[in-house]
Amino acid sequence: MASVLALETSCDESAAAIVRERGGVFDVLASRIASQVEEHARWGGVVPEIASRRHVEALPTLISSVLDETGLTIGQLDAVAATVTPGLAGALMVASVTGRSLAALHQRPFLAVHHLEGHLASVRLVDGAPPPPYLVLLVSGGHTELIHAESSGAMTRLGRSHDDAAGEAFDKVARLLGLGYPGGPAIQKLAAGGDPCRFNLPKGRISKRGGGFHPYDFSFSGLKTAMLRLVEKLKTDSERLPLEDLAASFEQVVAEVLVERTLRCALDYSVSHIVLVGGVAANARLRQLMQQQAQSNGLTVSIAPLEYCTDNAAMIGVAALQKLSIGQRISSLEIGVSPRWPLERCNALYETAPPF
Ligand code: KG4
Ligand code: ZN
Repeated sequence: MASVLALETSCDESAAAIVRERGGVFDVLASRIASQVEEHARWGGVVPEIASRRHVEALPTLISSVLDETGLTIGQLDAVAATVTPGLAGALMVASVTGRSLAALHQRPFLAVHHLEGHLASVRLVDGAPPPPYLVLLVSGGHTELIHAESSGAMTRLGRSHDDAAGEAFDKVARLLGLGYPGGPAIQKLAAGGDPCRFNLPKGRISKRGGGFHPYDFSFSGLKTAMLRLVEKLKTDSERLPLEDLAASFEQVVAEVLVERTLRCALDYSVSHIVLVGGVAANARLRQLMQQQAQSNGLTVSIAPLEYCTDNAAMIGVAALQKLSIGQRISSLEIGVSPRWPLERCNALYETAPPF
């Protein structure tokens, strides 16, 4: 049995959690998130400087809350963990410095976690989710990737977006439609009352050099442009934009393209289990379509619990506990933060000489 205090401040959510592992089962003992969404919404996206300042203000209270809620002290925990990459450098610094200071002060090991490893680990919070091998569709505001997890440590990226991430496409199209930030939830709400078949939108493809297309890669920039043209045309044709139908048609085509390419990849690689994680995995249409299509192809699906799809610290705690359970070396207190770092090289975060 082991438990960890985990911190997350890579973008616009400040979060702290205490997670416990017992016999391979993970329990979230407490999880708190302070969202800055309303503040950033005024600017139509995340303002890095504001994000860092708000993290500094919010994190100490969140840490006190999760400790109070569980009645534990940091000295009773097995480790302190924090996200150190990828994300906004100034924002990442808040959890990283706080986590390392607490670890040093209470003489606990420190684990520097890769944010995407956290998203991948979020599926362990589903009751009875089987361990790898599986194919992960990771869809967030910054990433759209198909990752073949052969075992807990071995991961190969088989597909990715060549331009916008799926969440970014939701956010940009929401802005185009005059909806709030973040765009995903706003589009989902509007789409519920719309016709998903009204507009025929493109499923972006990436050409291969020798001809044909990359079967597991994505492109959302063409779809974004198609939406822009469609909105401009509709504005000249009528006074009121059919916002519900536009949102529903956009959401439908994104869900279809994500599901089709994931299934194709799973079938080609003979992987029978699919895992769906990341902020966009909160999308109801995507969750439903993935379940339906996988089932009719004889595949099983595990989807991260709704509350752990968007950024949170519980998933960072699970990733850290997984590292502890396999006897992974702990991270150096000298480690800094990095806006980018490949997921395939996340084990470098636990080396004696830190990579950044
Ligand atoms: O994982 P996340 O919280 O942060 C990153 O690591 O990027 O993902 C945030 C993204 C945003 O782009 C947001 O619009 C999208 O996830 N999102 C959704 C939904 N909820 C959040 N997209 C579609 N439908 C949703 N219900
Ligand atoms: Zn995230």
